Amino acid sequence: MAHQVIAANGGADLPAKLTGQVLVCSIIAAFGGLMFGYDIGISGGVTSMDEFLKKFFPDVYVKKHHVKEDNYCKFDDQILQLFTSSLYLAAVVSSFAASKCCNNYGRKITIQLASFFFLVGVVLNAAAKNIAMLITGRLMLGAGIGFGNQAVPLFISEIAPNKYRGGLNVCFQLLVTVGILAANIVNYFTASHPYGWRISLGGASVPALFLAFGSLLIVETPTSLIERGHPERGLATLRKIRGVEDVQKEFDEIVNTTELAKQIKHPFKNLMKRSSWPQLITSGVLQIFQQFTGINVIMFYAPVLFQTMGFHSDASLLSAVVTGTINTMATLVAVFCVDKLGRRFLLIEAAIQMFIAQVVTGGILAAFLKSTNVLPKQYAYLVLLLICVFVSGFAWSWGPLGWLIPSEIFPLETRTAGFFCAVSMNMIFTFIIAQAFLTMLCHMRAMIFFFFSGWIVIMGLYAYALLPETKGVSIDEMNEKVWKKHWLWKRCFKNESEQSREDKP
Ligand code: BGC
Repeated sequence: MAHQVIAANGGADLPAKLTGQVLVCSIIAAFGGLMFGYDIGISGGVTSMDEFLKKFFPDVYVKKHHVKEDNYCKFDDQILQLFTSSLYLAAVVSSFAASKCCNNYGRKITIQLASFFFLVGVVLNAAAKNIAMLITGRLMLGAGIGFGNQAVPLFISEIAPNKYRGGLNVCFQLLVTVGILAANIVNYFTASHPYGWRISLGGASVPALFLAFGSLLIVETPTSLIERGHPERGLATLRKIRGVEDVQKEFDEIVNTTELAKQIKHPFKNLMKRSSWPQLITSGVLQIFQQFTGINVIMFYAPVLFQTMGFHSDASLLSAVVTGTINTMATLVAVFCVDKLGRRFLLIEAAIQMFIAQVVTGGILAAFLKSTNVLPKQYAYLVLLLICVFVSGFAWSWGPLGWLIPSEIFPLETRTAGFFCAVSMNMIFTFIIAQAFLTMLCHMRAMIFFFFSGWIVIMGLYAYALLPETKGVSIDEMNEKVWKKHWLWKRCFKNESEQSREDKP
């Protein structure tokens, strides 16, 4: 999810009003985020609906209702998992094309293409007659996510006045969680309808249509216009979106930034240099860790998981609404605390909280959920509570910070390329979890929770020992003030002669 704000300059206080144009852009970003969140949240509920399973996955339907079927293996089906995961694979592939489209043709057209892909995907899904239509629809939605997530954040960061940029960043994650919650609620109400799954999948058309119409109204960003050789139009647009005449200073800054960026012929090669390792490694492992918390097991498969624990369909979907609500509320904590308490505090605190929740959940399931029994009610509710504890910890830490930190630690010359790598890494690992979880659940059973808690220990230790605090540091001073002062990462900045002297025996 490339919804992070890639700031083009530091915190310079440039004259600007929060104009109608900027607000329209925020609304468009909101619908891009809602769209993404809706797609994350919808598949779990749909894949637990009987009518959907009967039509597309009759074997899973039979397994699910077969009393003797192993609790942990009811939903283990590669194609069923492919329904969820294919979207993320398409998102990885399409974001390469999207980044080229963004540079060569602009942000606006990239957003328009995103909404086009979304709409085609929604129609194919809601009207699906066979698996091929279903999976093709998911691939189109994935292409929409790839295009949207690459362009929308860039668009917001270029259009928002500096002082609103940081707030918009975490707020976008907030809207992703609202999208997940909306999907959970829609699933809850449509589940008993014979065409419930069509309504649920078709519901994505609401944010997609808003995005499609919204993208007709927006302007191209000044940066993109200047970058593509239209400086006069860039200046005029800047005046329009800032609502003030005096935009020369910001205009000059954008011209300088784009000139500088043009000189970097091979940003990816730059990214491989030793001095880029600290940021590259940090942003990469944060994405892996974010996914190995196990969060998407809950986001994608909560209803399936709750059914595994013996909840009825309705109760399972309602439980997903509960976890979705907690996810949204807890993200608000991040909005208010991230600049006060700092990144490391939230990450370490949440790692402890998530670890306890996962270990106790694993313990309860190992002790009380055998192959064919039903988990005693009181334990099922306790597990629901523990999952809420886990989700809230994630939502105020590894969720938003997994995106915020990569967006603020790269120097300008590698920022876009570095961030692009982080996004792709996230999508790849989201795909892996989506594709593998139900099979892992079947083979590892309750141990799967210990597997994730093991990862949580590693990520907690990483945050404690290797992650420097970036709170309050201007993004253009990160190297000097953060990385070059860190006990380990400073070694990557030694100049070559110093390094070779040290390397000699
Ligand atoms: C993650 C998603 C996850 C969502 C849950 C995001 O930060 O990247 O994979 O589904 O949080 O709220």
